[in-house]
Amino acid sequence: MDEVRLDTTTPVRGPTADERVCPQDLREFLAVIEAAGELKRIAAAVDLDEELAAVTYLASRREDAPALLFSSFTEAAAGSVLTNMLGASKRRYALAIGLDPDLATRELILRTRDIMKRRIAPVMIDAATAPVNEVIHQGDAIDLTKLPVPRFWPRDGGRYIGTGDITFTRDPATGRINAGVYRQMLHGPRRVGMYCSPGKHGRLDREAWWASGKPCPVVVAYGIDPVLSMVGAQVFGSQDSELDFAGGLQGRGVELAPGIAGDLPIPARAEIVIEGLVHPGATEMEGPLGEFTGYYGNLRAPQPVIEVTALHMRRNPILTGALMARYPSCEIGAYYAIMRSARIWDSLEMLGVPGICGVYAHPAAASGWGMVVVSVKQLFAGHVAQVLALTAQCPAAAYYTKWIIAVDEDVDPTEINDVLWALSTRCNPSENIDIQRNTWSTGLDPSQGPSDGRPYGSKALIDACKPHRYRDQFPQSTLLRCSVYERVSRRWSEFGLAGEPPEMTALDE
Ligand SMILES: Cc1cc2nc3c(=O)[nH]c(=O)nc-3n(C[C@H](O)[C@H](O)[C@H](O)COP(=O)(O)O)c2cc1C
Repeated sequence: MDEVRLDTTTPVRGPTADERVCPQDLREFLAVIEAAGELKRIAAAVDLDEELAAVTYLASRREDAPALLFSSFTEAAAGSVLTNMLGASKRRYALAIGLDPDLATRELILRTRDIMKRRIAPVMIDAATAPVNEVIHQGDAIDLTKLPVPRFWPRDGGRYIGTGDITFTRDPATGRINAGVYRQMLHGPRRVGMYCSPGKHGRLDREAWWASGKPCPVVVAYGIDPVLSMVGAQVFGSQDSELDFAGGLQGRGVELAPGIAGDLPIPARAEIVIEGLVHPGATEMEGPLGEFTGYYGNLRAPQPVIEVTALHMRRNPILTGALMARYPSCEIGAYYAIMRSARIWDSLEMLGVPGICGVYAHPAAASGWGMVVVSVKQLFAGHVAQVLALTAQCPAAAYYTKWIIAVDEDVDPTEINDVLWALSTRCNPSENIDIQRNTWSTGLDPSQGPSDGRPYGSKALIDACKPHRYRDQFPQSTLLRCSVYERVSRRWSEFGLAGEPPEMTALDE
């Protein structure tokens, strides 16, 4: 019997890119998710040291956990803390960018690819109309310790004001503004650490300022809307500005306002923003922090420090705290997996690689960083090897990823059970695994041995496709007959079975 492949480029449901209505800032997003039953307000007082994180961790052991808004603390603190803003929830990701929250992961990836092709430049608004300018402090009037800044894990090196932050830096040569998420430990009222891994654009910008003997200006927002948070965590081209992608995702330009201490603009609709300078050679002991890997990362070590020159905030600001933990409790979860998958798929297409049917970077694999599965319709000898090598090293996937797995087009990469089936039935480890050594990674990877020798990673390129040479002789997989599947689907309710019958990616004629 012949296999019938179902169309893997199924049209997606829900609004098209242009019909979307997206929340424009954190407060609008909170209203949207609260209406959808996706927000839990916690009025009971919590200790900012570990207890807030413990509640978040325990509540978010379920993939469908809501976002949590804490507004009362056992110490005096001005504002609230939002945790699990996106986390493992693909529904909140969809709501953040105006999509149907019921879309399947695969459909969200397709829709995200479509939307991310749009770029809309930011717009400058008058400083007087920027909501973040409700309160402004400069000089000694700045005291970040008055904000509700949590300590997440028992062995963290301190309280972290920035885990769910966004940091702007400028390339001094070209003027391009980069937006990245980099952890920031609170050292004092006006001093904040800035930990950037090697190769990150914020770090390259910082080094470029220092090479010319000047301090690096930065702007950091600590209460941000989810779209800025999402784009700040993605790898775009080194001269691309994440702000243009954020505009595209939100369907209108991100509103910026002029800063008062430097020439970097500030996100006008953020909750809390600082302006500051990172002076060459100025460091303080930083870390560790319990990380997205589920381990404390690198050892406590000197890291650069931001000297804060201005503070802008709303009254009763909301700090976005990103818990770093094992899936599904990590803030880098569903959205990251979907967007990273979309970026990798785009990269392969841009390189002209044919036959790509799906890509997924599963969030349980260290927040989508550990593993990428690509499904490919094999068109020629060597096709799978090409897909594996290019996936492993395209900028969107190169950082950290240890496992790059190719599967045939009948395997949906978002269905982990099917991926495990392909690995277990189509991959012969002695023949089908190649290793790349000394690859781009991070000092946060616990498998790399003592932290002073890091970061040099490695990658396994795993061919879990039917061997191209013998594909005609490869055993037939057990598939339902197409006509029987259709008949059973039509009669589904007659059998007293709940819901809809599952969709099939392949059937037998
Ligand atoms: C919540 C969160 C925390 C992060 N913390 C750090 C960090 O402390 N240091 C770092 O280098 N990257 C961190 N990242 C990853 C970077 O934000 C990500 O790699 C991004 O691509 C960096 O921007 P860039 O590509 O413009 O350099 C974090 C990401 C998220 C979502």
